[in-house]
Amino acid sequence: MLEQAAFLRDRLQKSRCTVVFTGAGVSAESGVPTFRGQDGYWKNFRVEELATPQAFSKDPKFVWDWYDARRLALHTKEPNLAHKKIVEWEKQFGNVHVITQNVDGLHQRAGTEKIHCLHGDIWEIRCTRCGISERNVEAPLSHLPPVCACGGIQRPGVVWFGEMLPQETWEEAERFCSCADLMFVIGTSAIVYPAAGLPMLAKSRGCYIVEVNIQPTELTPHFDLFLQGKAGEVLSQI
Ligand code: OAD
Repeated sequence: MLEQAAFLRDRLQKSRCTVVFTGAGVSAESGVPTFRGQDGYWKNFRVEELATPQAFSKDPKFVWDWYDARRLALHTKEPNLAHKKIVEWEKQFGNVHVITQNVDGLHQRAGTEKIHCLHGDIWEIRCTRCGISERNVEAPLSHLPPVCACGGIQRPGVVWFGEMLPQETWEEAERFCSCADLMFVIGTSAIVYPAAGLPMLAKSRGCYIVEVNIQPTELTPHFDLFLQGKAGEVLSQI
């Protein structure tokens, strides 16, 4: 049993605004690879070959092959105990806002409603010509690269390196982090900015920050409590 469980439940109960900030580690127990772990995506591929607008302009089919394979792999994955526990907190305590860097859709599938997806959503695709986005859960896609009704090539609805985060989502995330009094930072290496700046923004406003990770990160010394372990295993004890 987690020794801080009662303390954390009390904080959740009394919190006026709780932010749950997640990264790839929250989906690891669902069988989704992280980016920088031992078998992480960026161990086998260079970011700039796949996750940049330049890579897509150069070879959209190559980039899509990778995203299509990721979508196909995700299709069979289920939300884990961590995703489900967060939904339980939302229902029980209210005023819980999930801000995620993940594009896998697992928080939403678990039932999270108040979610801010900083890096987009892999199940959205957007036309590079007319800009129209659509939800598309076909995996694998029947035609690569997919083409819009207007004839333009469609791209994954994710944020690539060198691109701006969706403005409205970012502003909302900043707003919640500015007023949060409790924040959980779960399963992120916290090195990709601007997203990684959000916990420190919250900290600068006096927020109590709990980090859940299998190993310490660069930000661990700045936080109030570090709970070492797998997200699902740790959260299910709170
Ligand atoms: P990373 O792969 O950088 O970090 C994953 C973190 O999860 C690490 O700190 C691990 O120690 C931790 N972790 C692994 N398994 C865990 C588990 N079961 N429970 C808890 N923690 C666990 O992934 P992110 O921090 O999400 O951006 O990466 C941030 C961004 O970099 C991504 O959104 C993506 C990537 O490039 C874009 O694509 C724009």
